[in-house]
Amino acid sequence: MSARLIRGRLLSFKQAPQGLDDSSSYSYEEDGAVLMRDGMIAASGDYAAVKTNAPEDCIESDHRPHLIMPGFIDTHIHFPQMQIVGSYASALLEWLTTYTFVEEQRFSDADHAARIASAFFDELLRHGTTTAAAYCSVHKQSADAFFTESHRRNLRMIAGKVMMDRNAPPGLLDTPQSGYDDTKAVIEEWHGKGRQMVAITPRFAITSTPGQLEMAATLMREHPDLHMQTHLSENHAEIAFAKELFPWSQDYTHVYEHYGLLGPKSLFGHCIHLEEREADIMSETGSVAVFCPTSNLFLGSGLFDLKTLDERDKPVRIAVATDIGGGTNYSMLRTIDEGYKVLQLQGQRMNPLESFYRITLGNAQALSLDDRIGSLEPGREADLVVLNARATPAMALKMDVVSKLTEELFLLQTLGDDRAIAETYVAGEPAKSVLANHPV
Ligand code: GUN
Ligand code: ZN
Repeated sequence: MSARLIRGRLLSFKQAPQGLDDSSSYSYEEDGAVLMRDGMIAASGDYAAVKTNAPEDCIESDHRPHLIMPGFIDTHIHFPQMQIVGSYASALLEWLTTYTFVEEQRFSDADHAARIASAFFDELLRHGTTTAAAYCSVHKQSADAFFTESHRRNLRMIAGKVMMDRNAPPGLLDTPQSGYDDTKAVIEEWHGKGRQMVAITPRFAITSTPGQLEMAATLMREHPDLHMQTHLSENHAEIAFAKELFPWSQDYTHVYEHYGLLGPKSLFGHCIHLEEREADIMSETGSVAVFCPTSNLFLGSGLFDLKTLDERDKPVRIAVATDIGGGTNYSMLRTIDEGYKVLQLQGQRMNPLESFYRITLGNAQALSLDDRIGSLEPGREADLVVLNARATPAMALKMDVVSKLTEELFLLQTLGDDRAIAETYVAGEPAKSVLANHPV
């Protein structure tokens, strides 16, 4: 495959920005280029310098005046929930039983799972998301469908067969043994195959027996390099139910702690109502709290206390995610816009440098994948997004009065969505413009 050179303005973070003026946190190239070869970033920087060293036969695309950034990363999303986005329910537990647990039963059908998997990756790529940590359904065939399609498209994806063995319809239950065996089979078949990564995925304490949580911990011990993902402290009724099911627990986090599920590769969706002790143990173990603003607002779950978790003496690692289908939009731009508002309601601020850092390098760091993705540095995988801040008439009008990079980012965040994604590159190849433009 020949090399590709893309030209445009480059923005890539080096570390977490310490304020709106922290220009040392990122690199920006006004007339920049990225040279991509064999799926990797071979060079990036000033256009003239990159061009001089590029092979003569490389394919060149000019994206000026658009902004080229690392592809967006979504750290919590449910692929079997595409068709329940926007389901009318009072709160989490009603939403789960009325819609989610009904819908996910359809994924015992491998053909259905394959059709939705294809639609899922189309949608991510349309929105500039190149990596996600995804939940499949309880059925092994749903994970097989996910990875088959992800591998075919050469995407860097993390996903897991959900483990759940109680408090759900029979069609959605495994057992401690079958949950273990099926997860093991998915790991053996898919983990490390191309760019695929498997996560151990007990849904949450409410739908797993003690026996199953022990099996999840066994899998973690047997595969210490794997991610673990689950839900924690999303809603008050959920917290009360979890405490009832594990009466010996000091708090909800203690349940996962007791079974050995905390750690630097562990991703906990939501974490809205954590007590001090819970935040302490999350911090001490390097566990990651995943902020899902559109979901938290849609389900009325609460306001994620980002600044307190981030700035306490024992800071908690934080990631950002859509949580489709509790979440209401695939776009990480829409997600940070809603995240900004969640902070506003608490008298907190998230400046646009921080929000774009969070959906690129920040999320890569939270996934411990920052040596592979999340930046435009040479040696990283060539997953990129090209952003057009004039994508709609309203955006173009506003851009007429924008003079600073931070203002442009804030505009992209506030008014942008999939229309602002001019192109998505996956492993060095265009992936948005080549999508069929018809519904599945
Ligand atoms: N808690 C357990 N399962 C789920 C889910 O599918 N979505 C959300 N938002 N919370 C959960
Ligand atoms: Zn979720």
